[in-house]
Amino acid sequence: MKAITRAISSAMQDCELTHMERQALDLNRARQQHEAYNQALRELAVEVIELPEQAELADSVFVEDAALVFDEVAVITLPGAESRRQETRSIAEALAPHRQLLYITTPAILDGGDVLSIGKNVYVGLSSRSNSEAVAQLQEHLRPFGYTVHGLEMGQCLHLKTAVTALDDKSVLLNPDWVDAALFSGYDVVRTHPEEPFGANVVRVGSSLLYGAGYPNTLASIEALGHTVRVVDMSELAKAEGAVTCCSLLFK
Ligand code: GLY
Repeated sequence: MKAITRAISSAMQDCELTHMERQALDLNRARQQHEAYNQALRELAVEVIELPEQAELADSVFVEDAALVFDEVAVITLPGAESRRQETRSIAEALAPHRQLLYITTPAILDGGDVLSIGKNVYVGLSSRSNSEAVAQLQEHLRPFGYTVHGLEMGQCLHLKTAVTALDDKSVLLNPDWVDAALFSGYDVVRTHPEEPFGANVVRVGSSLLYGAGYPNTLASIEALGHTVRVVDMSELAKAEGAVTCCSLLFK
């Protein structure tokens, strides 16, 4: 398995914030956490392709938003925040050797953070960053490969994957305040602990899970189901409204 990641921008303090107040960000600490994240991926047998810093693009560490990588193709997004639109160019260059590239185009907007793929089902959160035109374009791009794309209403959080991610092909981890659990009635639903609203974001890396520190009750629920969980501290990146899924594009 491979992962594209990108070094943190020196301008990260000026990142987009939608549902969060701006807090002072310790860039050195953020960089240490990001390196520990890369290292955790390596220890899970992932080949990490770390792209150089794009200093002028404050949010560019959050590579997940710039593309979706499927086994068959990659889709380059059109990020919903104008300040993030330049991020896609270098991600397209990095993915070109690995996949045929398809593009989301205006009037669609799409952040990869709003896209949760589970098997052949692709769920797209209709957030401030992603719209129904993107759902239609994505469906056209992916139909030849047998995927079904579903647009989902969601609550007051940045991205769909702030609210729900997959633990495996049959179960999801979900904050019911931000996404209706009934939308995932075909899956076993594990709920975040009520005191850990940001605990729904987890990355599947092979048969393991990569998870942010700070959600001990939700972590205990996940581990009780038999999952192997590697925990990394993302507290500084969280001040930029990012979490574990945001920092990598994982593909075979
Ligand atoms: N700061 C992450 C984002 O708003 O896209």
